[in-house]
Amino acid sequence: MEVSIEGKVAVVTGGSRGIGMATALEFARSGAAGLTITSRKAENVETAKTQLVEAGVDTDKILALPARADSEEAANEAIEATVERFGSCDILVNNAGTNPAAGMLMDVDLGALDKTWAVNLRAPLLWVRAAFHAWMEKNGGTIVNVASVAGLRPSPLMGAYNVSKAGLVHMTRQMAMELAPDIRVNAVAPAVVKTRLASALLHDEAATARLHPLGRVGEPEDVARLIVFLSSDAASWMTGAVVPVDGGVIGAGSSGIS
Ligand SMILES: NC(=O)c1ccc[n+]([C@@H]2O[C@H](COP(=O)([O-])OP(=O)(O)OC[C@H]3O[C@@H](n4cnc5c(N)ncnc54)[C@H](OP(=O)(O)O)[C@@H]3O)[C@@H](O)[C@H]2O)c1
Repeated sequence: MEVSIEGKVAVVTGGSRGIGMATALEFARSGAAGLTITSRKAENVETAKTQLVEAGVDTDKILALPARADSEEAANEAIEATVERFGSCDILVNNAGTNPAAGMLMDVDLGALDKTWAVNLRAPLLWVRAAFHAWMEKNGGTIVNVASVAGLRPSPLMGAYNVSKAGLVHMTRQMAMELAPDIRVNAVAPAVVKTRLASALLHDEAATARLHPLGRVGEPEDVARLIVFLSSDAASWMTGAVVPVDGGVIGAGSSGIS
């Protein structure tokens, strides 16, 4: 089956750059009728909208909204604005993420830990609840959570982030059970992808690439294509799945990267 989301409306949190921006573009190329992209800063989502239009996306199909992922009010408003503008909210991608809390769990700054868990774990629940009540409860839908290989096994120095992503993996499965059969919930688990979030791991890109059995780090598009597939009817018998997209790190075995 062709991967198409013809006529569907998608919301991508953290859609101003990186994996979220690539996902928005891939949705547009796969036939999305409407796309809402959100991030903390109005200028960032506006710039992203301009870039999407330059890439050929119809400007009328994009709603660019500033919305903090960890704000219940912002989530509700963004989802409501999406339904009002495009008439539905069929797909939600919980992509916004953060990693300010480096260090071992024993030493990590608790304020940074709270922020990490609020944005990476609590926020996806807020957005799913918003989409559920505004649209998906009556009409169905698909949800993709952007987790990480860091949520599948422990690694040094990123404990707070790793635990948040492990929580998101379990929340994906919990939601899949609670929301079946009309709403499918899956997750992607990337290894190192070339984005701002991973910049600390990209100073020596060649060394990081060697930690991936396929010999390179990921491009945002590598993850975006999987997100669109999981959002589409081509994945209609998948829910509760957590799919690595990781250059072989989990399947072929590798160590030392988050
Ligand atoms: N890159 C990797 O190696 C990698 C690996 C595994 C998983 N991931 C996950 O992939 C997802 C996307 O990250 P990325 O790598 O594409 O990073 P990125 O390029 O830094 O993009 C992060 C996006 O999230 C937005 N954002 C950050 N904090 C936010 C908040 N509190 N509320 C709303 N939006 C927020 C940012 O926009 P503003 O700054 O405008 O808010 C930006 O659009 C994250 O969940 C990350 O954990 C990344």
